[in-house]
Amino acid sequence: MSSFLTEFVATEERTTRWLVEHVGLSDAKILFMYDDVNRIPCGYMGLDFIDWESGRGEADAIVRTGDGPKGFMTEGLRTLMRWAENGLGLRDLSVRVRSDNDALRFYERAGFRQFRAMPLVRHEDAQGTRWIEEPNGDPRGISLIYLRWEG
Ligand SMILES: CC(C)(COP(=O)(O)OP(=O)(O)OC[C@H]1O[C@@H](n2cnc3c(N)ncnc32)[C@H](O)[C@@H]1OP(=O)(O)O)[C@@H](O)C(=O)NCCC(=O)NCCS
Repeated sequence: MSSFLTEFVATEERTTRWLVEHVGLSDAKILFMYDDVNRIPCGYMGLDFIDWESGRGEADAIVRTGDGPKGFMTEGLRTLMRWAENGLGLRDLSVRVRSDNDALRFYERAGFRQFRAMPLVRHEDAQGTRWIEEPNGDPRGISLIYLRWEG
């Protein structure tokens, strides 16, 4: 739950709504299920915030959901990024991750390089917990790390 900027309890209904109303309707989002060679789903990963004019996009929703060989997610992410460059023509690819998430090391190992860190502040309301970027926040606390794909 603490891997993302909005912390929530995932239910089937909520996930279905997200897929149908957000992912399915948006031409700025692409989401793949990621199966192993036996077609057993092991994760999912995609792109978001695609700007077709400027050639920008972000890796998004990168989650391992099951077993699969070590390095499976790294190779999948690299393949996705190469397809985004060579298949979709996106030239400026990045990802954002919380500084307290081990996925930061995962992205660096996969071929992303840090270029910005923005402090985050925690915000609670009826919808749950959200982390919001605050330029004047404490840089020693949790930050949002921006990384660029360098292949
Ligand atoms: C982020 C996440 C997808 C990474 O998954 P993962 O299983 O660690 O990734 P991989 O399958 O690439 O495995 C990584 C391991 O394989 C190793 N590896 C990478 N490429 C390899 C290869 N070609 N051959 C063998 N090993 C390899 C890595 O060194 C790493 O080893 P370590 O864990 O001992 O350091 C997973 O931790 C996750 O789902 N996290 C929760 C969701 C999340 O936070 N997503 C990101 C939000 S921004």
